[in-house]
Amino acid sequence: MSNAKGLRSLRPVKISPSILSANPLALGRQVYEVKDAGADLLHLDIMDGHFVPNLTFGPAVAKALGSIGLPLDIHLMISNPEWGIDAFCDYAEYITIHAEATPHLHRFLRLIREKGCRSGVALNPSTPPQVIEHVIDETDLVVIMTVNPGWGGQPFIPGMLRKIEHVRQIIDKAGLPVEIEVDGGITSDNSRCVIEKGADILVSGSYVFSSEDMAAAIGKLRGCTITTY
Ligand code: DX5
Ligand code: ZN
Repeated sequence: MSNAKGLRSLRPVKISPSILSANPLALGRQVYEVKDAGADLLHLDIMDGHFVPNLTFGPAVAKALGSIGLPLDIHLMISNPEWGIDAFCDYAEYITIHAEATPHLHRFLRLIREKGCRSGVALNPSTPPQVIEHVIDETDLVVIMTVNPGWGGQPFIPGMLRKIEHVRQIIDKAGLPVEIEVDGGITSDNSRCVIEKGADILVSGSYVFSSEDMAAAIGKLRGCTITTY
């Protein structure tokens, strides 16, 4: 998009804190804190101990969190995406499934939309961006994993910057309003970089939930909007 002066419009980014890094003993208080601190979405990492070697929580927690007034950005890291779509669709704004978790990616992305949610496809670090080319019409969100999935607090993988750029090129070539989310190791040290490469939504868990001042942390992540000429 560009206006009369040829300036690309400022691209406001959305911040989606991941509750995987919240204090489980204070989850209720912390999610209201992060909402008041300016979060745009709440990122729920659903793990089954099989697709990734960690186990988190189920639909009952998502249902409770759905009542706080933040749209839920549900990231299914599970080997049975079809079950997850059905189990979480009543609470989610976005449901993201992994391209590596199913041979029926096209069908399940369409199913997510049929359930009334926005459809997301996540790519592990080793999965090439070309995977999205034949499902881009069924996709509202591409989640680029910038860590290997399973835990919070891991370091960002710099090699994923090229993949963000490549996915942005695929989306722009298709001319569709597909958003890019980056997920894993996102802090104020790398947020500008990933935004410049084309990210629209930043997931951040440990950086936000370990900060003394969540509003300041979220502000720093969003701090730069990019004017590109
Ligand atoms: C990892 C999850 C991420 C993680 C992000 O498998 O998908 O959402 O919780 O946490 P940080 O920001 O600490 O890497
Ligand atoms: Zn995630």
